[in-house]
Amino acid sequence: MTSEIHVDPSGGVLTITMARPDKKNALTNEMYGALADTIEQAEQDRSIRVLLLQGDGDIFTAGNDVGEFAAMAAGKGPSERHVHRFLRALANSTVPVVAAVNGKAVGVGTTMLLHCDHVLLAQDAQLTTPFVNLALVPEAASTYLLPLRIGHVRAYEMFALGEPLDAQTAVAWGIANKVCANEQLRAEARRMAERLAAKPAGSLSAMKKLMRDAEKLVSQMNSESARFEERLASAEAREALSAFAEKRKPDFTKVALH
Ligand code: COA
Repeated sequence: MTSEIHVDPSGGVLTITMARPDKKNALTNEMYGALADTIEQAEQDRSIRVLLLQGDGDIFTAGNDVGEFAAMAAGKGPSERHVHRFLRALANSTVPVVAAVNGKAVGVGTTMLLHCDHVLLAQDAQLTTPFVNLALVPEAASTYLLPLRIGHVRAYEMFALGEPLDAQTAVAWGIANKVCANEQLRAEARRMAERLAAKPAGSLSAMKKLMRDAEKLVSQMNSESARFEERLASAEAREALSAFAEKRKPDFTKVALH
């Protein structure tokens, strides 16, 4: 297990903390691997009744490590991309997943919430999906789940503009359950996880399977991932990723369309 994913089992609740605070919990391939292993193992381990996801420090996660995107765009990515295994594990998970989100949840930080069963947001939470700003496409079956959840025009706006959504609006739109005071977030999330852990696990698991079409989700993820790879190799993505590295605004008007 990487030291940047902390796993703490207690009272049937497995707390998973994304812990790379100096890089705003940006997720590396190794971290995705650890997350995937954890969720896959939890599916087999009857002592784990609930998963609780949270971020260390002042943010949930800044999303995928942008440096790793740049390496992939340059053809220097890892031979196995664990993000796919992580997303498949989330899509197929029948264990209840609670998320406690403080600060920013960027990219996959927001799209993973669409796979969680109970989402608590701190007052300072901000959900952002800047895939298009990076000249990429959204992932985690969010191109299917987000419009389904909040309607096409809101989802399109979130994806196309990549502007942050505040906590109250996210609850009003049905992306999250509740907004909590920042200092109450972890305690409230723990309480909810314990309530779910006390329910009949077999019943919750059967209910979740009925509520989610895991096959459809994985098939959407596969389509997104094919487009994602194409986009990553595009001139637009090269411009976006160089701009991030150089801490400047990208200029897409200079780049050809494809
Ligand atoms: N990948 C790699 N490194 C990241 C990162 C990411 N997704 N997000 C933040 N970091 C790094 C920064 O490069 C910086 O590193 P440095 O200290 O070595 O320069 C450090 O984390 C702190 O980030 P900083 O930008 O100074 O913090 P902030 O509080 O001002 O802003 C964010 C936080 C999340 C708003 C901002 O970092 C950001 O926009 N990150 C990119 C998010 C993104 O586009 N993710 C991909 C989604 S598809």
